[in-house]
Amino acid sequence: MTKKVCVIPGDDASPEAVLNGVSVLKSMEMDVDWLVLPSGEEGLAQHGDKWAQVCRDAIDACDTTWFGSTGGKTPVLQYLRWGKQTYANLRPVKYMAGVRSPLARPEGIDFVIVRENFEDLYVGIEGDLEVLKPLGLRGSRQDGAPIPETGGKFAIKIITEAVTRRIVEYGCELALQRKAQGYSGRVTVATKHNVLPQTDGLFRKVAADVASKYPDLQYENFIVDDFARRLVAEPHRLDVVILPNLYGDILSDEAAALVGGLGVAPSGCYGDNFAYFESVHGSAPDIAGQHVINPTATMLSAAMMLRYLEMPEEADRLEGAIAAVYAEGKVLTRDQGGDASTEAFCDAVRSKL
Ligand code: IPM
Ligand code: MG
Repeated sequence: MTKKVCVIPGDDASPEAVLNGVSVLKSMEMDVDWLVLPSGEEGLAQHGDKWAQVCRDAIDACDTTWFGSTGGKTPVLQYLRWGKQTYANLRPVKYMAGVRSPLARPEGIDFVIVRENFEDLYVGIEGDLEVLKPLGLRGSRQDGAPIPETGGKFAIKIITEAVTRRIVEYGCELALQRKAQGYSGRVTVATKHNVLPQTDGLFRKVAADVASKYPDLQYENFIVDDFARRLVAEPHRLDVVILPNLYGDILSDEAAALVGGLGVAPSGCYGDNFAYFESVHGSAPDIAGQHVINPTATMLSAAMMLRYLEMPEEADRLEGAIAAVYAEGKVLTRDQGGDASTEAFCDAVRSKL
């Protein structure tokens, strides 16, 4: 059956990556209908207040969404995550030969970050300290001193047992699948349970409990700052890394740096009935209009999308073509030490398909 893909080009430099990526994918002549929306800027100009609804309707009309990064002009990220319940944010961290890494030996780095996508500080509940005053709270880490009553703000961090259980189960199932393909079956969780024994303590406790039901996996837990060091010092030993939302956001950028930076870091957000795909990077307003954005992250996200659409051979074909361009090392974008335009890089990929 023909698959339907909604393409949201996003804002700033992102449409340059996405639209060129679309032309590469179209040249693969797959059984796919592409519903390509305008960029954030054009969408706002054309549809005004209705723009968000136009995006939501297009998302709902398709099997999946290929999403360009947004700087705010494309107001549907909330819908794709919370609205469509895509709770598991998968961020593969895999070194490709020829990509520029700051490490001496990046070869063989190949793990996946599974970031919880809903909770933690991302519930977005903040306010004036005055709001907390009637609660008479005391900080457990400040020798029980009362917290300041005025002159600042607070943010709320929420961790629930159910959402934690679901993300850790997701990560463990992924680790089992990977183990069947020859990976180590190591599951690593990082939390700040020493300072946050309730919230991160709960995440850690639930993670250990879930992991105990998977005797074929090796489970480990680190304090997150220690893990940030390990991520750089010994990335080769990692396989599946499961993180609460905020640490997952921060450390997936750090992890991307190990294997070539944000220009090559793909991602997919999966729920039970829907998934969408986006690069890890933002909309790069500083290079908008210059046609120098590296479309690799966007196209590798599309390869994840093709696997989700049950087109694994096409996914391999696309990844293989991208890898071949890096292996040859002749056509590289600026972030990789070359001077190729986004278009020239996509042409090179097309020639390797
Ligand atoms: C990401 C981004 C987003 C996030 C921003 C744009 C809200 O940093 O996908 O990693 O924090 O989730
Ligand atoms: Mg981020």
